[in-house]
Amino acid sequence: MEFENIKGVIFDLDGVISNTSRLHSDAWHQVADKVGTEWTESLSNKLKGVSRMGSLELILQASSLESHYNDQQKQELAHDKNKDYLRRVENLTKNDILPGIESFLESLKQNHYGLALASSSKNSARVLEKIGLSHYFSEIVDPTKLSKGKPDPEIFATAAKLLRLAPEKCLGIEDAVMGIQSINAANIFSIGIGDKNILNEAGIVFENTELLTLSNIRSHFDKK
Ligand code: G6P
Ligand code: MG
Repeated sequence: MEFENIKGVIFDLDGVISNTSRLHSDAWHQVADKVGTEWTESLSNKLKGVSRMGSLELILQASSLESHYNDQQKQELAHDKNKDYLRRVENLTKNDILPGIESFLESLKQNHYGLALASSSKNSARVLEKIGLSHYFSEIVDPTKLSKGKPDPEIFATAAKLLRLAPEKCLGIEDAVMGIQSINAANIFSIGIGDKNILNEAGIVFENTELLTLSNIRSHFDKK
């Protein structure tokens, strides 16, 4: 695969562009406390990239509580979590952009790459607005229009289509295992942000967003 063939970059949001993974996690922690599920690092990691209702199910399943709540009660728990999350989102500023992301986006724009957002979050437009990065993204996948969430390829495949690019001409960037699986299944080259032992299915892994630069990506391709 040639670096020169890459024409578009598709981003996850939470944990890649903004430090909002922590906000989701803090809000879910409250729900876990309410229903009596022990909050652990491993449970928190499992929720990354998972839809709102999917995340609630995982929290309930962790203490075999899924049949203790009816649909309406589940809706209420998810609604409360979202209210709590949105309250936290209102305090976001440019300082919540992860290190190096703004200059990476700027260099992509200067070099005429197509940019798309592929987040499972229904709140992504609000988050981008609060951190002042909306103008970089010509295409944002609407997760309410998808039939399957990550790790299904649908969300990344849709983003490539919106960019009018073949998947082979795109890069996908994710911090969650299921996100990497979604990118790979869409036949897009995957870049993981985080621990390389956890994100071992990714094409390249950078330990943090500061390392995410065009020259670091290019040098990975040149080595091959
Ligand atoms: C992202 C986050 C998840 C979150 C999901 C849905 O994938 O990584 O933690 O649960 O979006 O977000 P929403 O804002 O729609 O509840
Ligand atoms: Mg993420």
